[in-house]
Amino acid sequence: MGIMRLGRVQLRCHNWEKSVEYYKKVIGLIETARDENHVYLKAWDEYDHHSVILEKSDSAGLDHLAFKVKDEADLDYYEQKLIEYGVEVSRTPAGMRIAEGEAVRFQLPTGQYMELYHQIEVVGNGLPLTNPDPWPDGLVGIHPPRLDHLLISGEDVEGTTKLLQEVFGFGMSEKVLLDDGESMLATWLFITNTAHDIAVIKGPNAGVHHVAFYLDEWNDIRKAADIMGKNHVSIDIGPTRHGITRGTTIYFFDPSGNRNEVFCGGYITYADFPTITWTFDSLGAAIFYYNKELNERFTSVFS
Ligand SMILES: [Fe+2]
Repeated sequence: MGIMRLGRVQLRCHNWEKSVEYYKKVIGLIETARDENHVYLKAWDEYDHHSVILEKSDSAGLDHLAFKVKDEADLDYYEQKLIEYGVEVSRTPAGMRIAEGEAVRFQLPTGQYMELYHQIEVVGNGLPLTNPDPWPDGLVGIHPPRLDHLLISGEDVEGTTKLLQEVFGFGMSEKVLLDDGESMLATWLFITNTAHDIAVIKGPNAGVHHVAFYLDEWNDIRKAADIMGKNHVSIDIGPTRHGITRGTTIYFFDPSGNRNEVFCGGYITYADFPTITWTFDSLGAAIFYYNKELNERFTSVFS
């Protein structure tokens, strides 16, 4: 039984044509399908059909996030666990989205819809499975190899954190406490062995602060900043480094106002990883280790 990884996010875009072009040409994701109101995209080193779905909408935001499970039977297993935990569960039928099988769907205490799925068409990463080169030809833009994590917002940070820990077995790598020294401002949670697969922060319910793509090394972060500069991308902060996770980063916005991140590095976690705590007075260093200050936009803009 197991949750494998963050498999997809579906983002709403109101600036439709420009947003699609941005995700394809600036981020460098590969389009694998589209229908009237959606474009399906994958990062180049992902084998599955898609990891990002863009949805034509009149607002920005997160439609849902989804984790891929190891076996089809895991859907029944986790559905039962959710019901026992007191969560209302439904099923998204196979074929409702292109190239996807059935999914288990429920709402997190912070308001986001989350799905679990197993079946999805495999399209490969453009390289053979025997004697491959390190990367395929034809990559454009920043071209991250994969989707990495997302930061969601809501009032009940404790509730979503507890559900992810108790139902699915997520570990908590880090947490930031509020100034009362007890309640949680934010938590960083992992189910793979990265520093985090999802993070949760106090903010508007059902909100998303950012969706992050992985880059292999610091030089790729610098190159990504060059590409953002060339394409007049609105940069929020960076390049810089996080105290939390120790990752290097740039935050920036898509043409609809959804915040993206390119994220590189960070430590490896295992099941026995101890939770690191940041106190409220060290919040600046926790988020941006070098200048130790949060800008107003970073703390106030969610989609
Ligand atoms: Fe992040």
